Amino acid sequence: MKLTMHLGKRSYDIILKRGCLKNLCQFTDVERRRVFVLTDAGVPAQYARTVAAQCKNAAVYTVPQGEGSKSLKVYGEVLAAMLAAGMTRRDLLVAVGGGVVGDLGGFCAATYMRGIEFVNCPTTTLAQIDSSIGGKTAIDLGETKNIVGAFWQPSLVLIDPDTLDTLPPRQYANGLAEAVKAGLIADPRLFTLFEEPDPKQHIEEIIYRSLRVKQRVVEADEREQGMRACLNFGHTVGHGIEAVRGVRGRRTRGWYHGECVALGMLPMIEDKALARRTRAVYRRLGLPARFGGDKEKVLAAMRHDKKSRGETITVIRVPGLGCWRADTIPVSELDTLLK
Ligand SMILES: NC(=O)c1ccc[n+]([C@@H]2O[C@H](COP(=O)([O-])OP(=O)(O)OC[C@H]3O[C@@H](n4cnc5c(N)ncnc54)[C@H](O)[C@@H]3O)[C@@H](O)[C@H]2O)c1
Ligand SMILES: [Zn+2]
Repeated sequence: MKLTMHLGKRSYDIILKRGCLKNLCQFTDVERRRVFVLTDAGVPAQYARTVAAQCKNAAVYTVPQGEGSKSLKVYGEVLAAMLAAGMTRRDLLVAVGGGVVGDLGGFCAATYMRGIEFVNCPTTTLAQIDSSIGGKTAIDLGETKNIVGAFWQPSLVLIDPDTLDTLPPRQYANGLAEAVKAGLIADPRLFTLFEEPDPKQHIEEIIYRSLRVKQRVVEADEREQGMRACLNFGHTVGHGIEAVRGVRGRRTRGWYHGECVALGMLPMIEDKALARRTRAVYRRLGLPARFGGDKEKVLAAMRHDKKSRGETITVIRVPGLGCWRADTIPVSELDTLLK
């Protein structure tokens, strides 16, 4: 399956096909230029090797796994390695991994020599469903996530669902939360795929439909001036939960991003029956369906959220399956949301 992100001169194809990691050379020139393949130590090495094997002149560079690699330190090390490898402005960076490698690799590509071409080969559900398209690249500054970054679109996204076979089950479910999100805001059929006996059997359709939702939104609002905000559904409360209970920095116990977003969506679903269906989906997928922690701490974190503008905050609500609206509310009303 192929989707095209229509963004004028920055348009690109998204290829979704089992085994397509082996086909990179069909879609881009890897014969006459250097290819810098970025991966992390948790991604099975065979994926980066599959990519490098197709290139005439490739260097594979492996960063440590985890959010800690989205740091100024690792960013600097990658740029230094690119320079040492003799990368020029006409060469290519290929990211092979999850959202961490994609965000870091995309930002390195955006800034090395004022920007070089970037291909993304996502290997987690989260990256295949969500983070690999859209052009947001970033690293963290200390504990503040994604605060240093750039909009830099890839020239190609190669999504090989076979790479998900090696993903631990909890990571697998984590990424699906973003697909449930896409279904809730814009695609009822996508949501009902999660009510099938074995949603995993529909993974290609789940990825395809999720990407289509994001594609339409990004095409309409590449730089998040308005409509793109709908993709933040579940994220205002989710980020609050992530700040309190998330896996972050050296704190490795806790909840993943998708798990926090899953919980963050629940209070924003206005239709009670739909909220019940969503909880049932979470239980089937192995996502948390109840928070059970200190709501005051979550509220305090939300008040610090970067999306809060002065005294008001914009939240996305889902009145019924497949539709959404943005509500700007006073920060003082946040606590009523969590009741
Ligand atoms: N740019 C965006 O629009 C956007 C959107 C959402 C999230 N993100 C970012 O994405 C990041 C999270 O991404 P993630 O959830 O993919 O985490 P991740 O990249 O850390 O991957 C999770 C773990 O799985 C391992 N892994 C990756 N692929 C594997 C495979 N096929 N088999 C076995 N193990 C594998 C990784 O080594 C890592 O340990 C966060 O930094 C977040 O900020 C970015
Ligand atoms: Zn998210």
